[in-house]
Amino acid sequence: MKKIKIAQITWQPDKDSSIPIYQQIVQYIRNNISNGEWPVGTRLPSQRDLARLFKVNRSTITSAIDELTSYGIISGNSGAGTEVISNTWSLFLPPVTDWNKFISAGFFQENNSIVQTINKLEFEPDLIRLGTGEIDPRLFPRKRWQKTLHTLETKITSLGYLEPLGLLALRKSLAKHLNDRGFEIEPDNILITSGSLQALQLISASLLQQDSTVFTEAPTYLKSLHLFQSMGMNLSGIPMDESGLQYWKIPINNGDMKNVLYTIPTNQNPSGITMSQERRLALLKFCLDKQLPIIEDGAYQELCFEGSSPQTLKNLDKNDMVIYLGTASKTLAPGLRIGWVVASKPIVRRLGDVKMQIDYGASSLSQWALSEFIDNGFYDEYLDCLRKELKSRRDRALNSLTKYFSKFATWNVPSGGFYIWLTFKNKIKIEAFFEQAINLGILLNPGDIYDFKHDHSLRLSFAYVTGDEFEASIKKLSEILDK
Ligand SMILES: Cc1ncc(COP(=O)(O)O)c(C=O)c1O
Repeated sequence: MKKIKIAQITWQPDKDSSIPIYQQIVQYIRNNISNGEWPVGTRLPSQRDLARLFKVNRSTITSAIDELTSYGIISGNSGAGTEVISNTWSLFLPPVTDWNKFISAGFFQENNSIVQTINKLEFEPDLIRLGTGEIDPRLFPRKRWQKTLHTLETKITSLGYLEPLGLLALRKSLAKHLNDRGFEIEPDNILITSGSLQALQLISASLLQQDSTVFTEAPTYLKSLHLFQSMGMNLSGIPMDESGLQYWKIPINNGDMKNVLYTIPTNQNPSGITMSQERRLALLKFCLDKQLPIIEDGAYQELCFEGSSPQTLKNLDKNDMVIYLGTASKTLAPGLRIGWVVASKPIVRRLGDVKMQIDYGASSLSQWALSEFIDNGFYDEYLDCLRKELKSRRDRALNSLTKYFSKFATWNVPSGGFYIWLTFKNKIKIEAFFEQAINLGILLNPGDIYDFKHDHSLRLSFAYVTGDEFEASIKKLSEILDK
């Protein structure tokens, strides 16, 4: 039978020392493990006994044990006593660094708590995700992807670092893809990024000033992040109507020269609104007059269900006012982490130079794979199927809402993208509703995350769930509201 060694303790912390008591305890236990006194398998006394032996409060013991457990040195089983589980690499960890002190010191602000909860719960397998901004994994084009990877087996001969703007083959594929859709660009007008989010970071770090104001639609996806605010910039929400952003409400003086407009003109996240052609032209004229540069986020540009997509602001712009952002995340796979910036060559070079300082390039493997997927015609074929599927899911979702939600709420009818923006007729406690929905196995995205004021809305998504799943969830939610 294995003989269990029990740690013998006669030492006590020095209560007059400037080193916090729990850190002294952490150090004492580490020393005993590293000098071999307490080998792997040694059992520590229970937390109650440790508190008695060290003559300290139970909470001091808990803090010390938590820290040692987080280093992987001991197992955190508090009942029967903790056990030494590692005495090798773990002991190389910083001696007694209190990371808690550092947690709020960085310049990135913490996510809103509902966003943190959603980010966590999205990985609970039993929850139906009714607001998620991601395509249903069941729609991933597995066969076409397998063929693509198969071709790459012989094509890829190495996976080294790539040039600052990204894989030339991918920039050529994208330039052709975009030029077929009205762009007039060369591969050197494109920078490959690790997703559009990184493009936004690059723009804020390289082109904007600390006290710049970023004007944007209200509500907007951007409000769900603190990306610009963390860099010391202000975010200002501009209302929309059914034709898109009401640009004349942007509070800007001529010659301000440090502000920028961020807009998602096509299938906007979260409202689903698509800006009309007339509004696009008027907005461009306004921005030219006011010298207000534009970041156009085209994440949902290729997901229009009726006819062809509207012209992008970038295509309508003749004055290099617009930086265009594209991504493979909403059309194909967010896990590729591939996005692209389309802009004038000096801007693209500047952003590329900063990107080299940040991560030395997006994944080469993802870039090769996407390039091949576009070149062999699979991307276009698959996009046709995806649009049809999303359209049918949207129609099912709208029918379900009409059936179960008409007395409770109103909503928009999106002409593409993923989202339906729903607003309750009566004020409801949205946080409580969010919790009740979770108890029923449904994960929602409350509108407050995206809006500049408290609202009574939900961002619903028909992209992640089938029509049947959407209907079953909406029925359950209507039962909560009925009560
Ligand atoms: C409008 C918009 N832009 C950008 C992103 C992020 O894209 P990526 O995964 O390319 O960083 C999202 C994701 O939800 C989005 O909705």
